[in-house]
Amino acid sequence: MLLFSTLRSALTQSWVPLLRSVNNGIPEIPHCNYFDNNFLKKLLHKGEEGKAELLDCKTSARPSGISNLSEEWSGSEMQSRLPWSQLRWRHFVRKYIIQKRGQSNAVEESYFSSRATLRATDRIVGRWLLVCSGMVAGAVILGGVTRLTESGLSMVDWHLVKEMKPPTTENEWEEEFKKYQQFPEFKILNHDMTLTEFKFIWYMEYSHRMWGRAVGLAYILPAIYFWRKGWLNRSMKGGVLFLCSFVCFQGLLGWYMVKSGLEEKADSYDIPRVSQYRLAAHLGSALVLYCASLWSGMSLLLPHHKLPETHQVLKLRRFARGTAGLVFFTALSGAFVAGLDAGLVYNSFPKMGNHWIPEDLLTFSPVLKNVFENPTTVQFDHRLLGISSVVAITVMYLFSRKIALPRRTKKALKYLLAVAYLQVTLGISTLLLYVPTPLAATHQSGSLALLSMALWLMHEIRRLPK
Ligand code: HEM
Repeated sequence: MLLFSTLRSALTQSWVPLLRSVNNGIPEIPHCNYFDNNFLKKLLHKGEEGKAELLDCKTSARPSGISNLSEEWSGSEMQSRLPWSQLRWRHFVRKYIIQKRGQSNAVEESYFSSRATLRATDRIVGRWLLVCSGMVAGAVILGGVTRLTESGLSMVDWHLVKEMKPPTTENEWEEEFKKYQQFPEFKILNHDMTLTEFKFIWYMEYSHRMWGRAVGLAYILPAIYFWRKGWLNRSMKGGVLFLCSFVCFQGLLGWYMVKSGLEEKADSYDIPRVSQYRLAAHLGSALVLYCASLWSGMSLLLPHHKLPETHQVLKLRRFARGTAGLVFFTALSGAFVAGLDAGLVYNSFPKMGNHWIPEDLLTFSPVLKNVFENPTTVQFDHRLLGISSVVAITVMYLFSRKIALPRRTKKALKYLLAVAYLQVTLGISTLLLYVPTPLAATHQSGSLALLSMALWLMHEIRRLPK
């Protein structure tokens, strides 16, 4: 009853525009004299009376031969262009019939939940996923700025709900400041910090955490809605479940990372900072979430190309996967540079100091430890990976020029090349200028842009399921 009354009121509000849209450009429904265009036109002219007629109509008037309908519909070019209002209209009619008959049968399902319905809902779900990936990108950038302004350790505890209300009175602020004073960052680095300065770093961390919560809600609430509406097919349900769980995991990982910067280390007067391993895990999982959302969104929104499976196309596909992987690892290695402040050990390019290979490259023992803990090696590796990424992308671009590709694919290749050079220029400038916050934050955002271009290209030339 509730469903029916909701549908009724939805129809009342959007009755005339809906019918109008149904009449505009919708193809004739074959074998159907019940819901055909003339019938709808008549109802439109009758206004309220027409609405009543529709609501009272008997489904038995539906003609035979309806089961062929879905095939004829799905073959139609119009299907992919149906606007939202028409989709709602279809939903209404389908649900109405099911309501009237008190059951759902296969014919009705195939009649109205044809590929057209799916495609229009896919577009909505696809846009939602793109918005989510944009919000994750926002969180990554905000997180980078929080780290660069050394604000990340200002909130010393974590409550999902309680911490959403910031301190309001001076007393509350004093209390919060006192808590911060118990931790190594204040004792070693910020012992002369004023309350006003504390408020700045506190608000930076607070905005990152609140944005994280907003990202969580942006994933979970629409996912529940789409699920309940039946807009997700089986594989999409799996994907959406993965994304929603991953966003929660990302939040927990963030707190796990912050905790490592709050721990007091005996006899250590080193600048307190979070573990570079946990920073890399936090950034890495944000990148995975970003890539997964972007990829799923693109899969629902971008019409695919049917590329011939030639030897060259297969090679280009492998190349594109390889470069995307390389860019991903370069970004991860950047997290180690950031985590160890390794951008400040050698600020010259292309040489590191006076050497191509610095002398303190392998001073830690065992040798493997240098890769993750020696700032010189970490910076060296990041340079090497960054330069290799741009060289690989250039070679791939030159190779792709020999292949006949769709215009959009060529565009993806050009953008990827341009962003790669921009990103390396940003990286080198960040290094030469001793890591200024705006430049370092732009370099970090550049890695997201580069990853997006690499994914776009991979998506353009992906193998389609048979
Ligand atoms: C494909 C190319 C590159 C990518 C995708 C990339 C990505 C990144 C990322 C994700 C970070 C971490 C930022 C953060 O967590 O705040 C980073 C940091 C850094 N990168 Fe790159 N990078 C690239 C090339 C380069 C190059 C060629 C250089 C210099 C030669 C460079 C220099 C730096 C420096 C100095 C930092 C540390 C900045 C900080 O402390 O915030 N990068 N990079």
